[in-house]
Amino acid sequence: MSTVHQRVFVCEVRFAQFTESADGYSKKSVKNEAAKCMIDFLLLPPRSSCLSRGGREFETARTSANLWTPTGTFVEFKTKMGSSNIPKRIGIAMIGLGRAGNIHFSNCLANRRVDLRYLVDYDVNKCQALIDVNFLDGTQALSPDQLKIALDDEKVHGVIIATVTSSHEELVVRSLTAGKAVFCEKPLAETYDGTVNCYNLSRKTGCPLFCAFNRRFDPTHCKVRDQVVSGVVGQVQIVKTCSRDAAFPSIEYLKTSPGIFHDSAIHDIDLTMWILGEKPIVVSCFGHAFHKEVAEIDDVDTVAITLKFPSGALALIDLSRHAAYGYDQRLEVFGSKGMMQSKNLSSSAISVSNDKGISDDMLEASFKTRYQDAYKIELDHFLDAVVGGDLKVKEDETLAACRVAQACADSIRSGVPVRLEWT
Ligand SMILES: NC(=O)c1ccc[n+]([C@@H]2O[C@H](COP(=O)([O-])OP(=O)(O)OC[C@H]3O[C@@H](n4cnc5c(N)ncnc54)[C@H](O)[C@@H]3O)[C@@H](O)[C@H]2O)c1
Repeated sequence: MSTVHQRVFVCEVRFAQFTESADGYSKKSVKNEAAKCMIDFLLLPPRSSCLSRGGREFETARTSANLWTPTGTFVEFKTKMGSSNIPKRIGIAMIGLGRAGNIHFSNCLANRRVDLRYLVDYDVNKCQALIDVNFLDGTQALSPDQLKIALDDEKVHGVIIATVTSSHEELVVRSLTAGKAVFCEKPLAETYDGTVNCYNLSRKTGCPLFCAFNRRFDPTHCKVRDQVVSGVVGQVQIVKTCSRDAAFPSIEYLKTSPGIFHDSAIHDIDLTMWILGEKPIVVSCFGHAFHKEVAEIDDVDTVAITLKFPSGALALIDLSRHAAYGYDQRLEVFGSKGMMQSKNLSSSAISVSNDKGISDDMLEASFKTRYQDAYKIELDHFLDAVVGGDLKVKEDETLAACRVAQACADSIRSGVPVRLEWT
């Protein structure tokens, strides 16, 4: 796998038997190119890492020189690109240019680290139009049956997947198998087993897999979480989230979505577990379809979820697919020493005071504007991961969110709370 790491040179890693210690290495007469590269690698900062196709991660000599000494395995680096040809940007292929894809597309354009090489969608004309109006000479439009061109391109280091949810697992698997880092919109797969499958492959190939829980990157939510973790509200007793879409999503979208729990509630479930740092032991859920079209596809559009955690903390999640007054996104954490809120953001700072009272501007109209900073920050976070950084959204957290979302769906069907055990 061609991997960019933090010193930004691309290496091809192969193994050979070697019995010398790491310190003894530089004295050995190993071929010049490999030696130069290896020494460079030894000098990397402590948290740098390099991933091989076999999924093995090599940290710097300072933290893991023993990686090769006790086993007798030696890592030989062969430079594929000389230092005069250092890649400065990260090659990206984007699949799916709908609502979410367009947000990531704009952020890729604005991010100087991204070399946007391919746009892939059933609607190739839409991709070509985006390329044309933005003068993207180095970007190619592809239909899904041409995806192999992008996956075979060694200048593509990462793939951003923002297609309809039912296609995620297959696209994640194809991208990881091709040796690419993957940024995938939530949920990673339609089932728990499918999600496990994706992470297993990520481990096997050594390619990072990022589940895009964008709300974790929202600066306001992050501040709340940081302060809760540092004890500002004391012992947490209740976490409340309110998440209501402004415009009702199209019925076409809802028909292809995996239902309100895996499509929408999963954000709030993840946010709540992330703030509390624990997983719920009891899940209870009620819901109703106020919209006839939603009832017809056997889903609900309004939901109340209650979670109980091992510490005793309770979480209340209130969701709706439609709010007449704008995109309603609130978070509150109540504890023994006080309470913190991440309030709604208005679309402007205008406030009108008159004889009828005081009124603020409308709320943000959608996720696109409310979470615009979060989407930019999560993209940067993914790019950091492509070059060896740690992912903040961990495998067990994504899997836990998936299990809790499923427990909500089970609870609503059975009408009774679902107990969860975590090993
Ligand atoms: N994190 C967020 O805030 C957020 C917001 C909206 C949607 N999403 C997620 O993003 C994904 C897409 O949602 P959306 O609202 O953008 O949907 P959308 O219907 O607006 O767009 C999907 C796009 O993907 C294309 N597509 C579908 N299958 C494809 C395939 N196999 N190959 C190439 N292109 C394909 C479609 O032609 C379409 O252009 C969903 O999984 C959804 O859960 C996340």
